[in-house]
Parts: sequence; C-alpha cells; structure tokens
Amino acid sequence: MISESPSLFVWSLSEPRPAGIESFLDHHANAMTPYGSGKSALRDGLAGLVEPGENVLIPAYLPDAVCEPFQELGLEIRYYRLEETLAPNLADVERRLDDETAAVMSVNYFGFPQPGLEEFTALLEEYDCYHIDDNAHAPLSVDNGTLLGTRGDLGITSLWKILPIPNGSVLYCNTDAVADALEPSSLAGVSETFRLSDYQFIAKSFALDLLNKSTVVRQSVDTLVAGHSSVSPDPSARYEASKTTMSKLSARVIEKANPDSIRASRRANYRAWLRLFDHRSDVDVLFESLPNGLCPQVFPVRTPNPAQLLDTLEQAGVGGAHTWPRLSSTVENDPTYELSSRLASEVVVLPVHQHIDPTSIDVVGEQLH
Ligand SMILES: Cc1ncc(COP(=O)(O)O)c(C=O)c1O
Repeated sequence: MISESPSLFVWSLSEPRPAGIESFLDHHANAMTPYGSGKSALRDGLAGLVEPGENVLIPAYLPDAVCEPFQELGLEIRYYRLEETLAPNLADVERRLDDETAAVMSVNYFGFPQPGLEEFTALLEEYDCYHIDDNAHAPLSVDNGTLLGTRGDLGITSLWKILPIPNGSVLYCNTDAVADALEPSSLAGVSETFRLSDYQFIAKSFALDLLNKSTVVRQSVDTLVAGHSSVSPDPSARYEASKTTMSKLSARVIEKANPDSIRASRRANYRAWLRLFDHRSDVDVLFESLPNGLCPQVFPVRTPNPAQLLDTLEQAGVGGAHTWPRLSSTVENDPTYELSSRLASEVVVLPVHQHIDPTSIDVVGEQLH
C-alpha cells in the first residue's frame, strides 16, 4: 500500500544523516523564525506591518482556514481570481487593490513556483503593498537558486507537510524592514520540553506503520490516538488548535533530516506518477515538467470524475489521495469564483513522499492498465 505521509520510523532507521534542513534553510534565507503552524507565522509576520481596517488580497483557491490570521489582525479579506494555470488573474487583482491594501499573497502551489509571478510583483510594486510568499507546500523547493518563500517581503513554509512531524513551520522575513518590525508572539520558537502531543504523534505513527494495510483500521487508530473523531470542520477552531510553538520532536527531526535525499526521492516519485498518467486522456497533469531544484509536495492532477479516480487509486492500494482544498464558504458561495470551486472539486493530489519506493508507483500503473 502507498501511504499518504512519510513515516517517523522509516525516518529514524535511515542512516547516515548529514547536516539537516535547518542549516539548508538558513543558508538561503535572510531571517527565519520557527512556529508551530504557517498560519501563526503569517499572523506574527504581518502584525507589525498592518493596521486593522486595511485589506489583504489572497487567492480564492486556498484552504478555508488560511484567512483566519488575517481576520484576527482586523484585516478585510479580498479573494482574487486565478487563471486555469493557477496564475493570478491580474485584471481581477488590480480591480481589488486600493489605497487601503496592506498586503497581497501569492501561493507556490504543490511545490511549484507561483505561475505569472513577474507581472504580479510588478503590479504590487505600483501599489506599494507588502507581498507575502505563501510557500506552505514547498519547504525545500529552490527555483533558479532562490528558495521558495523568500521572494516576497515575507514568506512562510510548513515543514510538517513534507516531514513526519506533529507540527512545524517557518516565517521568513525577507527584508530588514520586515525583520525589524517583527515582534514574535508566544507562538514563536521551539517548545523546551516534549509535549503530550509529541508522544501521541509517536504512538500514532507507530500504530499507522503497523496497521497501514486497512483504511478502516487507520481511521480508528486516528480516533484512538489523537483523542478526537476527526479534524474540526470549523476553520477558526482549526486555527485556534494550530496556535502552538514548534514542538521539540519536530525541531529534532528538522535538524537531522537530509534535504537533498528528501528532494531526490520526492522527485523520483513525481516522475513515476508522470509516467503513469502520461497517456491517460481522462486525467490532466497540472505540472508536466519538474524543473531542477523543485521538491514537490504532492502530484496534482485534474479530472472531471474525481470520485472514480479516487476509487481506482484506493483499489490499487494508494492511500491518502484526495481533492484539494476545502474552500472558504465565501468563495464556494460566490459565482465570481466559479473556477476556484471547480478546481477544488476536480484537482486530486497523490502522495510523492520520501518513503514511497517509485517501483511501487510503477506497480500501481500496471494494475491500472
Ligand atoms: C496554501 C496554504 N497556505 C497556508 C497554509 C497554512 O499552513 P499551516 O497548516 O502550517 O498553518 C496551508 C495549509 O494547508 C496551505 O495549503
């Protein structure tokens, strides 16, 4: 079975382990601060730069909870439209910008650089607002020598999305002015002691490794070990739950994990999915080429029949494929954002994590044929 996420135990057994992710990020970034979640990092990064009543522009194709930190800062949220390529719709961005716009956010979707970034940043320069480089998906992606997340005035990245850790994100202050304005809250930094949630995470990872074969068993393990039946559907509750410092367990893994080997494995798995979907007319691959330096979070495809694809994948033993993301109700209920709603129902993401052997993806391909 191909699992959804990498395993803490496979990680702990893999040797040798040279200099870790922290020094890799440090090498590329101007100033960085650890957090438990990308949302907390966004909150702190912007707090010293904006005033309540100003507005922020964010893409409509975005998970529902990502607007929460902006709301907490008293900012008006303005969703902007995207093109089919996931590039910002520049006319729509420009229509929504005004003198009260404090910041505009772009997103490096699935580990790939934001399409259309050059024109987008030129527009922001005209309006003199902060540019947030949301790199939640691509902690290890380097595009032409630049680490994603370090391009705007400030950026974030979510290490928990690619590592077997309970939480962990980083805030990048990419200019000295933004770094000077940062007043880290109690959510910044690394926990000094191991927390109950660290032990729960270890227990859960262990149980999932043992019971990886059955989805039903897997769900009950989630329930038992995490102590709750499912993730809350309420975005503000999820935001509140994400407000912690980086866990000590996460920091330890981040310190030791090898960025080069993680990137190489994820790229090999991405290419294996590319081979598999190359000839399928019912499924479009979102990013057909994988330029050097990028480290994909997942393998995203688009299909008019996602339920059928998910069913087929599950039968072939692929765990954790799902549509992405859960949109905010504001976007879902507004026909202006019809494309984002369509993308959210048609885009399916497949796992490429470092503990999948690419030959197991080839085996899935043989089964599908
Ligand atoms: C595009 C994007 N931005 C920001 C976030 C928030 O990151 P975190 O979950 O670390 O708070 C997510 C989380 O899914 C995301 O997908």
